[in-house]
Amino acid sequence: MKVIKDIRAMQEISEFLRRTGKKIGLVPTMGYLHEGHVELLIAAKDECDVVIASIFVNPAQFLPGEDFEKYPRDFMRDYFICMQAGVDYIFNPEAEEVYGKDYKTYVSINDLSDKYEGKFRPGHFTGVATIVLKLFNITKPHRAYFGQKDAQQVVTLRKMVKDLNVDVEIRVCETLREENGLAKSSRNVYLDDKQREDAAVLNEALNLGKNMILKGDFDDYKSVKKAMRDYIETKTPECSLQYIAITDNELMEKIDDLKNYEGEVLISLAVFFGKTRLIDNILFTK
Ligand code: PAF
Repeated sequence: MKVIKDIRAMQEISEFLRRTGKKIGLVPTMGYLHEGHVELLIAAKDECDVVIASIFVNPAQFLPGEDFEKYPRDFMRDYFICMQAGVDYIFNPEAEEVYGKDYKTYVSINDLSDKYEGKFRPGHFTGVATIVLKLFNITKPHRAYFGQKDAQQVVTLRKMVKDLNVDVEIRVCETLREENGLAKSSRNVYLDDKQREDAAVLNEALNLGKNMILKGDFDDYKSVKKAMRDYIETKTPECSLQYIAITDNELMEKIDDLKNYEGEVLISLAVFFGKTRLIDNILFTK
């Protein structure tokens, strides 16, 4: 396994791999890898000839006051996890090289970037789409692997790829969960033991919403949201719910007529436990 820090060097390697007929799989990450990332690496290993894992804490997707500085970083730990997962290249550039002097170009996906997560984290998806497109241009993958845990990120990147005719297949792997249902996330290290236990409420509430919808046991989408909100607030009064969204999985449009809707339903939510903001979602077909 090789670690590449230089953009030009990575491009040349990827160009060579492509010319020699190799299928390249990219797993973009911000490091501090957990089992969820390992699933993505394994899927890439299964489906591609060469796996590139990028490790880059992308400053452009953090808002002022967010946890960019304290975002967990441990390169050596990530290095060994990648090695065990059979990664061929780690791409680990410096921010100064990625966003050089007078950097000006950003990718923004209208509407999709601004709702739900984007409403509470304005500019976040522009930062994500920009870095992901840059990583695609640098590592030239055939396939790129993302976790369903970040549902709006997946929807946004799919749209970017479609709208900009980017020749990369987006592959999505299921969310990995702790035993209590808490979605695996690098940010879970911020939770204390009690919060970690309490955070099971996210997945429980999502399943409550899903079951109500599938059984038809609701008046309208507002009553599903209310039942979920009541469940969260009663079970863990010390947490603070930011939003619940019931949408389609294509443009994350709100489903007004949930009774008669047929197709994929995405329920997403964000909850604060102390200062730690957790997101989760459930995707199913009605
Ligand atoms: O999901 C993440 O870890 C990041 O948003 C990504 C896709 C690596 C872009 O920085």
